[in-house]
Amino acid sequence: MILNASGCLDALTAPRVARSLDAFVAKTITPEPRPGNAQPRLAESDFGLLNSIGLQNPGLDVFYAEVLPLLEELEMPLWISVGGSNAADYARICERIGERDSVDVLELNLSCPNVDPAAAGAAEIVAACRAVSGKPLYAKLSPQLPDIAEVATGVIEAGASGLSLVNSLRGLVLDEWTLEPRLARAVGGYSGAALRPVALAAVFSCYEATKGTVPIVGMGGVQSGKHALDLIAAGASAVALGSVLFGDLEAPERVRSELEEEARARGFERPSEARGAAHQPFAA
Ligand code: FUM
Repeated sequence: MILNASGCLDALTAPRVARSLDAFVAKTITPEPRPGNAQPRLAESDFGLLNSIGLQNPGLDVFYAEVLPLLEELEMPLWISVGGSNAADYARICERIGERDSVDVLELNLSCPNVDPAAAGAAEIVAACRAVSGKPLYAKLSPQLPDIAEVATGVIEAGASGLSLVNSLRGLVLDEWTLEPRLARAVGGYSGAALRPVALAAVFSCYEATKGTVPIVGMGGVQSGKHALDLIAAGASAVALGSVLFGDLEAPERVRSELEEEARARGFERPSEARGAAHQPFAA
């Protein structure tokens, strides 16, 4: 299963790529509109991209009335990314959006590096959302948690159905000559190739901690079918493409066919058969 990472496709690009994705993941929405952070909020860096979008979005009411109907025209499974400052914010969105049959999954963004204050109390937020919605809830976690596996088991116990691993890492890029931060907010979320081993480790340890019982969407620097296969071997049941989409809208198609080829080359009839393969040497 190949998805896009939340925030990496907009209303213009989504229809061009949607057919090659198994589900479309929308940009995070919050209860109230957010203009996003000051510009500049994108900067290239070695091996990746720094962003400081700041959860720019039109807010729940406009999303519900104007954006969701457009996404529904894609006629494909929709995952809606949910943000907020506290458990009540998240629950309010889940309750309202969760009533729509077109919405398959509510992905709880518990890890945006670009907003202040960051949402805290992951398990409490998940429990509040679970209380108001029967939809599958995926918890999207930060790779910078001191113990991501512990938080993963906590959110699953609180009612999460799956995990999205990982969001970006906090990073800083300085201008070559002025030595000032390239982003207006200085620190932003760093994604791209350098995030790949970090994402692999997070998926690997959360798969072990949950004993492979919950679905995991792996993401972070995936640019090829082999990268996707690595995440599946570490424990992912689906893979999301992020920054690669900014430069290559054909990536989902290409990664899917490379993934099938790479899996077959290693004796797996389907990529899904490789899930958890990285753990076998460690089995008791
Ligand atoms: O700043 C942003 O909108 C990024 C969101 C995220 O990484 O979760």
